[in-house]
Amino acid sequence: MSIIVETERLVLRHWTPTDAAALFSFAGDQEVMRYIGDGLAWAGIERAHAWLERVGKSYRERGYGPWAVSEKTSGRIIGSCGFSFLPALSEVDFGYVFARDNWGRGFATEAARAALRYGFEQFGFVEVTANTVQENHASRRVLEKTGFEFRGLRHYDGDAEDSAFYVAKNPLDGLGAS
Ligand SMILES: CC(C)(COP(=O)(O)OP(=O)(O)OC[C@H]1O[C@@H](n2cnc3c(N)ncnc32)[C@H](O)[C@@H]1OP(=O)(O)O)[C@@H](O)C(=O)NCCC(=O)NCCS
Repeated sequence: MSIIVETERLVLRHWTPTDAAALFSFAGDQEVMRYIGDGLAWAGIERAHAWLERVGKSYRERGYGPWAVSEKTSGRIIGSCGFSFLPALSEVDFGYVFARDNWGRGFATEAARAALRYGFEQFGFVEVTANTVQENHASRRVLEKTGFEFRGLRHYDGDAEDSAFYVAKNPLDGLGAS
């Protein structure tokens, strides 16, 4: 398993096919999934296997993808944070999700800052976008604390309601980063 980056309390690493149960432990939670995709918890672990397969493909084709976030003290996977390429928009999209019993401890912000810095430094992204349901205030706060700028509302990925659209620009762009 490859480690991407470590922070004070967290390790971000590649997801592997053996992580399905850990992933499903939070993706199967309705409260966690309420603002993601169709807003429904994954009904069965096969969704986790299929997602991990797509993530593996993203690693192979692009080098990046969402990464597993584990807590150093417990070694437990507590969330996911990273990038997805959106072919229809030609954008690199940033996202995260954490198990409910870990909310409110600053983990999302800690992981997001490290992942974003890594993306700018290692992949030379010029800009990264993020889209969130308007009333997902915790997620919007994490984006703002991570350095994303609110750019207004826009239609996103077949969602019924317009999403809040954010952009983070690479501070290294124009300073020698590719
Ligand atoms: C959004 C999510 C990742 C935040 O994780 P977290 O580890 O609790 O986030 P942090 O502790 O780093 O920061 C949360 C911030 O939001 C604030 N916040 C939490 N709930 C809030 C609310 N209802 N209204 C306003 N602010 C809120 C917190 O106070 C904190 O800000 P602060 O540090 O200024 O006090 C987590 O709730 C989650 O996984 N939600 C489900 C998945 C999801 O919605 N992902 C995003 C999809 S776009």
